[in-house]
Amino acid sequence: MEAENVRALIADVMPKAIAWRRHLHQHPELSFQEVETSQFVYDKLQSFGGIQLSRPTKTSVVGKITGGKGPGPTLAIRADMDALPIEENNDFPFKSQNPGVMHACGHDGHTAMLLAAAFVLTRLRHHFSGEIRLIFQHAEELAPGGAEELVRAGVMDGVDWVIGAHLWSPLEFGKIGILYGPMMAAPDIFHIIIKGKGGHAAIPDQTIDSIAIGAQVVTNLQHIVSRNVNPLEPLVVSVTKFVAGTTHNVIPGTAELTGTVRVFDEAWRDKVPALMERIIKGVTAAHGADYEFVYERGYRPVVNDADVTAKLEAIVRSVYGEEAIAHPKPIMVGEDFSAYQQKAPGAFILIGAGNREKGIVFPHHHERFTIDEDAMEKGVTIFVHAALRFLNEAAVTR
Ligand code: NI
Repeated sequence: MEAENVRALIADVMPKAIAWRRHLHQHPELSFQEVETSQFVYDKLQSFGGIQLSRPTKTSVVGKITGGKGPGPTLAIRADMDALPIEENNDFPFKSQNPGVMHACGHDGHTAMLLAAAFVLTRLRHHFSGEIRLIFQHAEELAPGGAEELVRAGVMDGVDWVIGAHLWSPLEFGKIGILYGPMMAAPDIFHIIIKGKGGHAAIPDQTIDSIAIGAQVVTNLQHIVSRNVNPLEPLVVSVTKFVAGTTHNVIPGTAELTGTVRVFDEAWRDKVPALMERIIKGVTAAHGADYEFVYERGYRPVVNDADVTAKLEAIVRSVYGEEAIAHPKPIMVGEDFSAYQQKAPGAFILIGAGNREKGIVFPHHHERFTIDEDAMEKGVTIFVHAALRFLNEAAVTR
């Protein structure tokens, strides 16, 4: 196979990929509700021919492409498909038509990239052995996440490696972010209820003020990061919601606090809930209040396998040159790609999709978020070359 052919096939499919992305952008669906999205994916894959399709859950799609060179290992490639509960504030012709729902994280681009890679790989099937497993996952944005469900449904059975990519607006177009080892944090959630005693705001001595106590809990929780944990250990403890009270002259009996903990290290992840509870218990007891504390574990941290990451890095270097490679610091956002990494060595990469010159500067989950669509070609190219390399160990040239 000529490298020229690969490039031509990808160049041919990219206008379609951009049209697919725009269609998906216009019709976003929330996590676990990706009914039309998954049907769109299913129909497209079916139209390519030569892909064995299944629906492991109601709103996910898995495709298998069998290589024409005989039996061999299996490479899984994953794309997520869900959108967010955000009202879009862009004025594209392909702006969201679903009120209050928006593809504000680039998953529309991920879906389109994997569709395009699938199309190209069906045309190249005689150049690889083994199997490519295409995982179109629902519900990345909402715990417990779709990945865990798909793993339970067996989509990783027999998989030797798993790869995935995120279009990433904080990274400029042209760069590919490669991280070895810990990459994305475990995103845990906590809920606290401060149980005081309500009463008249002018007679505070007869109350146990849940707001004043809750405020002290918030302040003291900051000591975990600043005083209980090694300063070189990445950890976030953020209270993001504080609900109490109804009016100016009533001290509320209860206050509800919610927030998130982001952590990489499993040992620290085990210790943080106890450190939190010690503070909550101590502060509430000091003021005669009671409490409820619930700590929910979210996704596992994304930790990239060294060999798989090195192979992807080598592909990026050979196709786009050394200058395309970026080594960003780990990020404290969560990703349920980690669920697949429990089953096979895997790596997740970032594809630079921001572009200051084009005004593409808004962060993920922002009402004006978008991607530089030209970045999608890089994702498709890396997926296609990864399939050829992992399933062939042949030299990759462009
Ligand atoms: Ni995302």
